[in-house]
Amino acid sequence: MLAVSAAVKIVDFVKKFGDTVAVDGLNLEIYEGEIFGLLGPNGSGKSTTLLTIATVYKPTSGDIYVFGRSVTREGDEVRKYVGIAFQEPKAMWVDTLYELLLWHARVVGYSSAEAKSAVRDAMERLNLWEHRGKQFYQLSGGTRKKLEIAKVLIQRPRLAIFDEPTAQVDVITKHALWDVIRELRQEGSTVIVATNDMFEAERICERLAIMYRGRLGALGTVRELKDRIPGGDVVEIGYEGSREEVERAVSRLPSVGRYVLEDNRLIAYLNRGEEKAAEIVSLLTSAGVKVKRIMVQEPTLDDVFFYFTGARLREENQDVALNRGATPWAR
Ligand SMILES: Nc1ncnc2c1ncn2[C@@H]1O[C@H](COP(=O)(O)OP(=O)(O)O)[C@@H](O)[C@H]1O
Ligand SMILES: [Mg+2]
Repeated sequence: MLAVSAAVKIVDFVKKFGDTVAVDGLNLEIYEGEIFGLLGPNGSGKSTTLLTIATVYKPTSGDIYVFGRSVTREGDEVRKYVGIAFQEPKAMWVDTLYELLLWHARVVGYSSAEAKSAVRDAMERLNLWEHRGKQFYQLSGGTRKKLEIAKVLIQRPRLAIFDEPTAQVDVITKHALWDVIRELRQEGSTVIVATNDMFEAERICERLAIMYRGRLGALGTVRELKDRIPGGDVVEIGYEGSREEVERAVSRLPSVGRYVLEDNRLIAYLNRGEEKAAEIVSLLTSAGVKVKRIMVQEPTLDDVFFYFTGARLREENQDVALNRGATPWAR
């Protein structure tokens, strides 16, 4: 069997900030050489996890191993491997963009001459060169994000971490970043990207973890996650008529497990969507409901995201009340 070694091994990782449990017992392996996506709603613990991998935070309990080195006991070793583009860039306000990157290049081991050319290359690549003389406080949010990306590009670390790198950046920079990420991987880096941009996740990530409330909601390739949605296809029917009639009709179809009714739309999750759509339409029609529009699609990553985070919502709700009408599947 082919042995896949772990670039990052997260073991029973818990991180608390006072009473807040940011990460609640995470177990996860990220393989060497892959582009791994970390997804999850705001506050689900992505940044906390990434910052702990990068030794900015220490675990409250559990441990994380980066290429076999423990973040709790061998932080100095771990830091040699890791480069991170922070979600919220911070720097000395009066330093210029160029100075900041040059300093970073020296810190990660470039000679003075090499540093200059590496910094210029990275800046040109990300359309930062024209801003080189600007001080940090003068930079827009998007340019600050590019500064973070440039740091990783210059460093070419064995483990490259990008925390929501394309939030606030323009489309051209997004594509430049994706090229950078693929190139880093090509040259042997392992890459972790936290993102809520489903398009981005689908374009570049080979495996994904969906985090929810500090826990792992789902893990797999994009394909696997899509297939794991029971009744993977989504049938969407726009109708005119009473919601009760639609509900009654749908309940007569055993193959329709989960569905959402909102804004005169029926959204059903099922298998063999094309065939089932026809059955649903004829049932609705005979119940006197007028069908206006039909759409059948395979799940998007958005659906996957809502499925796995929504599923958790429902489990929690069930502890509280019998709210059978409430649907957590709404998009
Ligand atoms: N430095 C901190 N001090 C206190 N609470 C924090 C800190 N960092 C994160 N948190 C809390 O931990 C939880 C997870 O946050 P975070 O890891 O930033 O999530 P994400 O990156 O997925 O949006 C949130 O409830 C957040 O408010
Ligand atoms: Mg975050």
